[in-house]
Amino acid sequence: MRVLITGGAKELGRAFSEAVGAQGHQLVITGRDEKALDAVEAELKAQGVDVETHVADLGDPSATPKLIESIGGVDVLVNNGALGGPVGPTWQVDETEWWRTFEVNLRGTASAMNAAIRTMTSGRVINVVSNAGVHRWPYVTAYSVSKAAVIKLTENVAVELKHRPIAVLSYDPGMVDVGLMHRGRTMDSDDPDLRRVSQWAKSQHTRGSFTPVEQSAGLLARIVSGEFDHRSGGLITPEDF
Ligand SMILES: NC(=O)c1ccc[n+]([C@@H]2O[C@H](COP(=O)([O-])OP(=O)(O)OC[C@H]3O[C@@H](n4cnc5c(N)ncnc54)[C@H](OP(=O)(O)O)[C@@H]3O)[C@@H](O)[C@H]2O)c1
Repeated sequence: MRVLITGGAKELGRAFSEAVGAQGHQLVITGRDEKALDAVEAELKAQGVDVETHVADLGDPSATPKLIESIGGVDVLVNNGALGGPVGPTWQVDETEWWRTFEVNLRGTASAMNAAIRTMTSGRVINVVSNAGVHRWPYVTAYSVSKAAVIKLTENVAVELKHRPIAVLSYDPGMVDVGLMHRGRTMDSDDPDLRRVSQWAKSQHTRGSFTPVEQSAGLLARIVSGEFDHRSGGLITPEDF
């Protein structure tokens, strides 16, 4: 199967790429950072993975759709790329930055999903979401509300696809000690809002609430393989296993 992973060169996306590549799938990885894309391509090729990488900014709603069309479609799309968005009381954070988070996390995800579905006869779209989209996450509302919107978008599109062999699933990877959560829990800042969010992330880590990255990526690889297509529209998370 040809699997496209957005933001698949770094952090959690990279762990997803490694897990999916190890299953023998053909990988297409996107992101904005050309150096990171080149590095992951070289390393995965050295492991025998069939992989190509492309620069595509999710903030440009036509970039990933154009890529999907130009490569003749995909069997599986993993919408992983996202922004953490601004931190602070909602009425105080930069409004442009707040809406930019929606451009990437919601519009970028929706545009890629729509383009992928248009090219699919069968397959699946996996939208990577977060606990922040299920429960309230004050002080990071652009992130929380954009992920909540993706969860609801997934539910709706799954119903629209119920007579076609295409599944659409939300995947909450759990709190993982890479990327956003790692930066969050290890950050050292004088900013009281950043400190508040960091303290919370630290307490979750101390309490043992984090999911090992291998477990999170392993479950994503099982979703990619189609094991959870019968739960189309639903939210899957390692915490349920
Ligand atoms: N880490 C966690 O514990 C955790 C928990 C729950 C959910 N998640 C979700 O898992 C996913 C990955 O999170 P992460 O922790 O790895 O975050 P991260 O370290 O901030 O990485 C974000 C990824 O998204 C890509 N990206 C960001 N903006 C982009 C844009 N405009 N266009 C294209 N790609 C863009 C980045 O690649 P480039 O910089 O190359 O563009 C990078 O690969 C996200 O959807 C996040 O919400 C993570």
